[in-house]
Amino acid sequence: MPLLNILRFPDPRLRQHAAPVEVFDEELVALKNNMLETMYEAPGIGLAAVQVNVLLSMLVIDISEDKSEAICIINPELLEHDGLVKTDEGCLSVPAIYEPVKRFERIKIRAQDEKGEFFELEADGLLSVCIQHEMDHLEGKLFVDYLTEMKRRRIQKKMEKLLRETM
Ligand code: NI
Repeated sequence: MPLLNILRFPDPRLRQHAAPVEVFDEELVALKNNMLETMYEAPGIGLAAVQVNVLLSMLVIDISEDKSEAICIINPELLEHDGLVKTDEGCLSVPAIYEPVKRFERIKIRAQDEKGEFFELEADGLLSVCIQHEMDHLEGKLFVDYLTEMKRRRIQKKMEKLLRETM
């Protein structure tokens, strides 16, 4: 399956908002599989469709070490949250940068899988943080937005330099 191109910060397309998924067909399953493969290859633990320039409310996550816990989350909705926790986050769209971000410690979401089946998921720890990070992508939000203006600008310069070097 073809790997998808992951947009890099500060690409303005990362600021696009996702629309709800309404059609659950084979194409969607193929997209899920391509997103997973792209995420594993990167390698990363989460990828939102907006990051590959597909404006659908869809994300894939696998926080396991052996690629055994793939989760596909479509049209997620935050139902409950509890506590706050600060952890270092990274992002496939902002490679090699890790900065602390404050998130809810525990969350409960309602979402659909790639077949359209609804499910609820309670998460804490890394999974909770990862889901919140990926859900932000669906609204055009990046983890660097939580940092100071100065830090974000420094990261942007670094990314632009990296881009020039690889072109
Ligand atoms: Ni990300």
